[in-house]
Amino acid sequence: QLEAVIFDLDGVITDSAEFHYQAWQALADELGIPFNREKNERLKGVSRMESLDIVLEGSGLKLTEAERLRLAEKKNDHYKQMIGSITPEHLLPGIPELLDSLAQRGIDAALASASLNAPLILERLGIARRFQAIADPAGLRRGKPDPEIFLTAAELLGVTPRNCIGVEDASAGIAAIKAAGMTAVGIGSAELLGEADLLLSSTSELTLERLLELLRK
Ligand code: G6P
Ligand code: MG
Repeated sequence: QLEAVIFDLDGVITDSAEFHYQAWQALADELGIPFNREKNERLKGVSRMESLDIVLEGSGLKLTEAERLRLAEKKNDHYKQMIGSITPEHLLPGIPELLDSLAQRGIDAALASASLNAPLILERLGIARRFQAIADPAGLRRGKPDPEIFLTAAELLGVTPRNCIGVEDASAGIAAIKAAGMTAVGIGSAELLGEADLLLSSTSELTLERLLELLRK
């Protein structure tokens, strides 16, 4: 029985995954490091500093901790400038309707995003109060694909992982949901998200009916 839907943010609720990509691409270009959308897939769901390490991989650059922090800050300043333009119109298709249906049915909604900018984005989207729990990534020891962030969200809600559905656009995120003992819905391509229990090509297909049916099986 479905007790809660636990959402990733970037690429699921709004298209901020594209802003993350653009900000990393700009940083890589500035440093003269090769980077592209394919490599960017590995950054999805991964924390800011871990993402930087992946971007710098193979560059031969030897950086001090202070320099690494400065580069991460630079990427984040650029990213924050982009998300400053987010409005409720930037909710991905089907998301407002799904949040409405969940509220009507008394099914909880929670957020499990690795982004420290998540609360700000929810505010800008005008949906901050629609979530009964938000797992704070700053307080976690391990990032996705570890299940910790999804388990933390379930714990905050006081629900059983087995009765939760997680929604993700990243391979690391699907792995985290499965490791948490939850049912995983992937938004994207089978190539990248093959482990998902249900794969949808767009959030417009993400309806409460579909989710309820998934847990009935
Ligand atoms: C999410 C995104 C990642 C991003 C991470 C940290 O997991 O999918 O691309 O790197 O959050 O985001 P932040 O806003 O804290 O830099
Ligand atoms: Mg994501």
